[in-house]
Amino acid sequence: MTDLAPILIPDFDLSGRNTLALKAASRFGLEITDPAMLPALFTTARELRLPVRILGGGSNVVLASHFDGITAMIATKDRQIIEETASAVLVEGAAGETWNEFVAWTVDQGFGGIENLALIPGTVGAAPVQNIGAYGAELADHFDSLTAYDRQNEQVVVFGKDACRFAYRDSLFKQEPDRYVVLSVRLRLPKAWTPNLGFAGLSELAEASEITPKLVMDRVIALRLSKLPDWRVTPNAGSFFQNPIVTVDEARPVLEEFPTAPNYAQHDGRTKLSAGWLIEKTGLKGFKLGKAGISEKHALVLINLGGAEQTDIGALASHIKAEVLARFGVQLHEEPIFL
Ligand code: EPU
Repeated sequence: MTDLAPILIPDFDLSGRNTLALKAASRFGLEITDPAMLPALFTTARELRLPVRILGGGSNVVLASHFDGITAMIATKDRQIIEETASAVLVEGAAGETWNEFVAWTVDQGFGGIENLALIPGTVGAAPVQNIGAYGAELADHFDSLTAYDRQNEQVVVFGKDACRFAYRDSLFKQEPDRYVVLSVRLRLPKAWTPNLGFAGLSELAEASEITPKLVMDRVIALRLSKLPDWRVTPNAGSFFQNPIVTVDEARPVLEEFPTAPNYAQHDGRTKLSAGWLIEKTGLKGFKLGKAGISEKHALVLINLGGAEQTDIGALASHIKAEVLARFGVQLHEEPIFL
């Protein structure tokens, strides 16, 4: 397979392939169903002098209305138990697997570890890129390794945990977006499972007579459904801003005015504030600008009111950042990637 030009689909419509349902198209589109297609993809793109953009589940992106290049959608499917010992099970998912289905597959077999990350939209391959997290857990907690295609050296590389440089909603793959394409992810799930119930809404489960990964997963799903708008009904990309990690001096004006504002001490002495809280206190919950708006349900979620494009979401995001900066002196940073 050296030339993929014959199977590129021209004028590829992406409006149904991003959870914000933005009007978006690509000069060419292509589903990658086998990692072996990647070298040919990049060779073909070079020959056509076109850039390549990689798309997973489209849940953490704000797509441009037109991309003059090739959008490659990772659609590889496979999940398997690589190794099971007395102390742990090593599981692997192909990049194109739906993350939530992968979580349910592990939990259905009785394995605990990633149940707090249930129902996060997107794919297994996208999970390490922003080190997905929710309810006091993050991907890095049980991460073992991943394989990725290195576009620079044109070879498949294995990354251990340290090499991935995971941090809050960050990794090497987010920092070098044009270099690596994640192919598969391995997680090591401990047999001696301890539920992670520290987060409000989960702590009451500690009273249950028997706690199982399934019980925790079901509660996480119920919590998410009650707190966050469903992108199938109200198109959105989840949290639109990261929770800002600021210095004690930067947090002081907020905490002096609102002593009960949510704030979480970090290991490095800084403080994590809540972006949703800051936006709500700026008076923007439910605010609308053109075809984009802020969810009435959760102030950190931007929604497509109908027919929105990247520019509508971008304009609303800029407005929110300027208002929060003026009100609290805190700079917000977008979580989804503008592609
Ligand atoms: N809050 C408000 N107003 C709002 C929304 C939230 O005041 O409209 C307050 C809440 O009362 C709470 C605080 O803000 O005190 C935090 O809210 P929440 O518990 O909903 O969590 P979050 O910090 O907004 C983070 C993740 C979510 C994850 C939840 C649950 C980020 C950027 N977001 O949200 O992840 O599901 O915690 O663990 O870290 C995502 O990344 O797309 C995402 C949904």
